[in-house]
Amino acid sequence: MAMDISNAEFTTVFNFATEQGKTIVYLHYFTLAVCVLVGIIVTSLLIAAVVKFRQRPGDSEPVQNPGNSKLEITWTALTALVLFTLGVLTALVMHMVNPEVMATQPDVIVNAHQWWWEYRYPKSGAVTANELYLPAGVNSLLEITSDDVVHSFWVPAFGEKMDAIPGHPNYLNLKPLRPGLFLGTCSEFCGADHSLMRIIARVVTPQQFNQWVQDQAKAPVASSDAGAQHGEQLFMSHTCMECHSISGTKAHGQVAPDLSHVATRSTIGSGVIANNLDNLTRWIMNPQKIKPGCHMPDMRLSQQDAHDIAAYLENLK
Ligand code: CUA
Repeated sequence: MAMDISNAEFTTVFNFATEQGKTIVYLHYFTLAVCVLVGIIVTSLLIAAVVKFRQRPGDSEPVQNPGNSKLEITWTALTALVLFTLGVLTALVMHMVNPEVMATQPDVIVNAHQWWWEYRYPKSGAVTANELYLPAGVNSLLEITSDDVVHSFWVPAFGEKMDAIPGHPNYLNLKPLRPGLFLGTCSEFCGADHSLMRIIARVVTPQQFNQWVQDQAKAPVASSDAGAQHGEQLFMSHTCMECHSISGTKAHGQVAPDLSHVATRSTIGSGVIANNLDNLTRWIMNPQKIKPGCHMPDMRLSQQDAHDIAAYLENLK
């Protein structure tokens, strides 16, 4: 299920795509309405007083009034009531969106790395990178953490931004309202490639999601193509396997993206280039040229070897 990320909807927090985003935006509208109403009342009273009680020729000194306890108690109580109501509503929305650290198992563990996103689905064992899948109409609990420095997970259409902090998991509830492709980005400066860790979130129907998660949890089928088989030998004999994992093989590296089903992803390098054989070959030959600063080194492979490894990977569906 490869996708073209240029098809993604342009979304802002106001064009919400989750129940949580909707609640936050509605709270915002309610708060805005209350503030506008208070503003209109206060400004109207002020203008009315200025017009009605302005000094006219021949006016004597006005009546001097040292205070009005009734009026003062009323406006203090009304202000307190407005602030209390908004405070309680905000706390309720925060509680709904940011669940406490719960005993329940998260649906997705989002692990941020310099400079890519790892997504683990502990209930099925599926692992992927850079492309998050979520089922529409179902609440998913995300555990958000980091492997190195502080990053921040933010898809504007999903509502809240959540920091990814090493050793301190944060939690986010997301119940997508409709299928679609939604883009986000890391929102906390995290080093050289901070702007190159795109969040690609795909919301699909629950049926499509179940199919996807089952496919991802399976080991990929090896290709019978000679070039791809040579590529597999190279992958397993070079240091590729020290950093990357491919299920069903001896590659169990944990520091770089899991490549078990890399061919199903739309981009390489967390959104920097489209995922296809030519681009993957160029990436393997010199990742630094495409994403300067990324942690994948230039392996000094020949064009043919890089092409064969790419052919192996492009068959991992
Ligand atoms: Cu990760 Cu900024």
